[in-house]
Amino acid sequence: MIIGIPKEIKNGETRVSVTPALVARCVSLGATVLVQKGAGMPAGFADAEYAASGAKIESKARTIWKNAELIVKVKEPLESEYGLLQNGQTLFTYLHLAAVPDLAKVLLKKNVLGIAYETIEARDGSLPLLKPMSQIAGRLSLQIGAYFLQSQNGGSGVLLGGVPGVKSGAVAIVGAGNSGAHACRIAAGMGARVTILDLDTRKLDMIDDLYRGAVTTLAANPANIEAAVANADLVVGAVLIPGAKAPVVVTRQMVRQMRPGSVLVDIAVDQGGCMETIRPTSHESPTYKRDGVVHYAVPNMPAMVGRTSTIALTQATEPFLVRFIEKGVKSAIEETQGLAKGVNTRDGKIVNTAVAKALGYA
Ligand SMILES: NC(=O)c1ccc[n+]([C@@H]2O[C@H](COP(=O)([O-])OP(=O)(O)OC[C@H]3O[C@@H](n4cnc5c(N)ncnc54)[C@H](O)[C@@H]3O)[C@@H](O)[C@H]2O)c1
Repeated sequence: MIIGIPKEIKNGETRVSVTPALVARCVSLGATVLVQKGAGMPAGFADAEYAASGAKIESKARTIWKNAELIVKVKEPLESEYGLLQNGQTLFTYLHLAAVPDLAKVLLKKNVLGIAYETIEARDGSLPLLKPMSQIAGRLSLQIGAYFLQSQNGGSGVLLGGVPGVKSGAVAIVGAGNSGAHACRIAAGMGARVTILDLDTRKLDMIDDLYRGAVTTLAANPANIEAAVANADLVVGAVLIPGAKAPVVVTRQMVRQMRPGSVLVDIAVDQGGCMETIRPTSHESPTYKRDGVVHYAVPNMPAMVGRTSTIALTQATEPFLVRFIEKGVKSAIEETQGLAKGVNTRDGKIVNTAVAKALGYA
């Protein structure tokens, strides 16, 4: 099997889809791995390390896309890569197709077997390839929020942890899954006043048990969300309906009630965002102000910590990649628990129900 690892080209992306150690494992199983020159550099992995692990270093992305039957990436192909996708090729990456209908059309037209990291399911229904990046994004959301609350960065000048005699900042987190729970952990660690909301009461039970009242848990109904947002210095959006476009849980009306200079971090922007006033931003230009509130909505936040993220991501993708090499992609899909749920496009059709619904194909 020939596996291609192109350099990521999304704005500010620093992750790479394999480490040298993973290349060595793939090669030991009989695969040929083509790695684009410089692909691992932003994450601190030199070409020489990949070469020493048995990779073939290719200077051009085009050569990799043309020759590999399996392309392993981190982010979805961008428009400039659409033409590089080969007919019938297998693509293993984060796709988030609900947010990029044009890419879905390309994958269908080219009969690409598109396996999305974010919809692969573990036995218990959890999402093992989304989890590590969500945890990272959740933890980052607090340091980002704290940074943009600083006066010089356009914020209201609130110190989230407060200081003795001055009340600490208020953080509202909507969604208590992987990213929300990790945002909560850092927010509580900073000494902020934290409110976390979810529809799933089991998630709230867990948070309540863990923090023993130090964090407020609330059912995510519109009235509770509105009250929490109005009082918050920082709102973190962390909801997910797997494969589907994110539901809007924070409306413009709620945002208007916030103090000027307060901050929104919408982690769910990769699924279209869960705040009415959100639009995607980039690492180059990460924020904009609307209604006096700082909006942050970078869809690839883990790229800020490319080395940690690359190691965390590749540890999660490794078992699947190994199965692809050992069994062949098609048999691996049939035989590996949860992998079929990862298949978003196959033979010119959208085969994941939630993705098909979100894109209006079902
Ligand atoms: N921006 C980035 O860089 C980045 C990085 C990683 C993950 N993400 C995204 O973050 C989002 C969250 O991922 P996750 O792994 O934390 O998901 P998760 O499934 O672990 O948690 C989502 C939570 O949202 C809750 N939820 C669903 N609908 C809700 C609603 N209407 N109101 C309140 N809660 C609701 C669910 O009950 C669940 O607890 C996803 O869109 C994911 O793709 C973005």
